[in-house]
Formats: sequence, C-alpha cells, structure tokens
Amino acid sequence: MTQRTLVLLKPDAVRRALIGEIIGRIERKAGWTITALELRELDQETLEQHYGEHKGKPFYEPLVAFMSSGPVVAMVVEGERVIEGVRRLAGPTDPIAAAPGSIRGDYGTIVRENLIHASDSEESAIRELKIFFPGIG
Ligand code: PPS
Repeated sequence: MTQRTLVLLKPDAVRRALIGEIIGRIERKAGWTITALELRELDQETLEQHYGEHKGKPFYEPLVAFMSSGPVVAMVVEGERVIEGVRRLAGPTDPIAAAPGSIRGDYGTIVRENLIHASDSEESAIRELKIFFPGIG
C-alpha cells in the first residue's frame, strides 16, 4: 500500500542539529522516498489550520508557540505503509514512554519538544499535505 505522509522536523530538531540524523533514519528505510523538503518558518494561520482540532486543549497554546519558535523542516515521504511506519519510527508523543531505538526514545526530552510530527492517518495526511504542500497532486 503506497502512501504519502507529512513529516515535520520540529524547531527543537533543527536547533539541536538533529535533522540529518532523523532524515537518515527515514532514508534508510527501504522503499521510502522523500519527494519534497523545505526549511520554513510557520505562520499563525498555517499552525491554526494544522493544529485546529486541538484548539481549546491545554497544550494548544504552548504547542503553537513552540512550533513558531524557529524553522521546521517540512517533508513529504512516500512509500509502503509509510503513515504507520513513520509514526512507529517516531515513537509515542511522550518521549519518556518512547522505546530506545525510536527517534523520541533516543533524543526526546519533554512532551512539547518531541522532535517530529507525522500524520496519524490517511485522512490526516491528505488534509495536512494540502496545507504544507498545496502544489503536489
Ligand atoms: S491528542 O489529544 O491525543 O490528540 O493529543 P496528542 O496526539 O498526544 O498530541 C497532539 C499534538 O500535541 C502535542 N502535544 C503537546 N505539545 C506541547 N505541550 C504538551 N504538553 C503537549 N501534549 C501534546 C503533540 O506533540 C502532538 O503534536 P504533533 O505535532 O501532532 O506531534
């Protein structure tokens, strides 16, 4: 099942010079390809669209503030079951709960600064890819 997913390397990953390490893990997975990649600052409108479903939750404001605290790397990754696969590579939201070997398990510190976002379903991937890469069909 070939899929596309949106991956964001969050501002902590960029600040801590971990983007090469994380991209390397994605590239080493046979059959996955990065088909678009951009370093960019996220404006409030983009963040509201992307995280709109969480508006009103206690973590929403800190999350949006964190995601606008520096540039992110936005990527499209394509491949076999890549939506579930990148989520597994990332590990659970809370780095303390993430197993060693996963990105968050190896490098994560606190929940807010958990290095990577990856779409959580096909429906989310389609919605999020439209926000970040409207040009791709
Ligand atoms: S939920 O309510 O279960 O859908 O939330 P969850 O999937 O765990 O998290 C949704 C996104 O919110 C981020 N998050 C936080 N950010 C800052 N501070 C706190 N405390 C916090 N808790 C959760 C979490 O990393 C998810 O962001 P993305 O970018 O989707 O990974």
